[in-house]
Amino acid sequence: MATQTLHQIELIEKIHALKKDKNAVILVHNYLRPEVYDVADYVGDSLGLCEEAAKTDADIVVFSAVHFMAESAALLLPDKKVLLPNYDAGCALADMITAEQLREFRVLHPGAGVVCYINSSAEVKAESDVICTSANAVAVTRALPFQKILFVPDKNLAQFVAKQVPEKEIIAWEGFCPIHHRITVDQVMRAKADHPNAKVIAHPECPDAILQIADEVASTTGMMKYAEQSPGQEFIVITECGLTQRMIKTMPEKKFLSVCNMCYDMKKTTLESIYESLVEERFRIEIPEEVAVRARKSFQYMFELTRVASNIPSLVS
Ligand code: 13P
Ligand code: SF4
Repeated sequence: MATQTLHQIELIEKIHALKKDKNAVILVHNYLRPEVYDVADYVGDSLGLCEEAAKTDADIVVFSAVHFMAESAALLLPDKKVLLPNYDAGCALADMITAEQLREFRVLHPGAGVVCYINSSAEVKAESDVICTSANAVAVTRALPFQKILFVPDKNLAQFVAKQVPEKEIIAWEGFCPIHHRITVDQVMRAKADHPNAKVIAHPECPDAILQIADEVASTTGMMKYAEQSPGQEFIVITECGLTQRMIKTMPEKKFLSVCNMCYDMKKTTLESIYESLVEERFRIEIPEEVAVRARKSFQYMFELTRVASNIPSLVS
C-alpha cells in the first residue's frame, strides 16, 4: 500500500485544521486518489454524497469529485458555500446532452416522463421529471408514474434499467461514459480465465455484454458492499480504476483485480487543490435560481420516489 510522503502528511494536518476553523466538511467520491480519503468526512457514491450533503450543518462543503456532483450539492444546499477544488474536473458523459437537446427529445416523444441520470448538468436536470443515480435508477424508473420513459444521458444504464423494468417502454439517449464503454468482453474473459473463482462486480455504465457476465451490477458503493458482504475472497472489479484502490485499502484481507480505465477528471483533485480550495474558498459552485428551482424539484422527486426523503429536510417549498 502507498505510504504518505512528508509533504502529504503536512498537508493533511493543515487541511484538518482549516476544516475545524472554517466549519467545513470534505465529501469525496469513491474514484478519487487514495491520499484524498485521509481528509474526507465521507467517501461514497453519488447517492451517498447527495444524502450527506443534504444533512450537513457545515458552512462550507468541499466537494472532491467532478463538476456535476458539486453542482448537485449546490442545488441541495442553496445557502451553503459549495466548493469544487479543481474547476476543470468535468464528466464526458454529462457533456453528451444539453438542455436544448433534451427539450427537442421531449417534443419527439409527447407524454413520456424523463428520468435523468445524475451525471448531467443542472440545466439538463431542470428539464427532467426526476433524477436518478446508479444506486436507485431501477427503483426510480419503476416508481415514476409514466409508461413511456426517456432515459438520459447514459444508454448503457438505460439498457440495464430497461431489463429490470420490462413493463415500461424506455427510450435511451445515445450517451455513454467513455471510461466504462470501452471495456471489452475479451478483457473480462481473460481475467476470469486467470482467476476462475473470482466474483465479477461491474458498474452499470458498462455495456450490456459486460453486465451479462457479472455476478453483481451496482453503484460504486454497492460494489464495495457486495465485496464486503460476500464470502468470496477474490473479485474482478470492472469500473474506473480508483475503486479497486479503495477496495484494496479498506479490505486488505481480500484480493481485488481490476479490469478498468482511468477517469482523469476524477484524478484532478489533489491534496494541494483541496488545501488551496479551503484557503481561498474557491471554486464556488452557484446555479442561477431559475434553473436551480426546477432542478431541485427533480431531485426532491427522486428522494420522494425512493423514500430516502424521510432523513432529509424538505428542499422544495
Ligand atoms: P456512482 O454514483 O456509482 O459512484 O457512479 C458515479 C460515476 O461517475 C460512475 O462513473
Ligand atoms: Fe463521468 Fe465516466 Fe468519469 Fe464517471 S467515470 S465521472 S461517468 S467520465
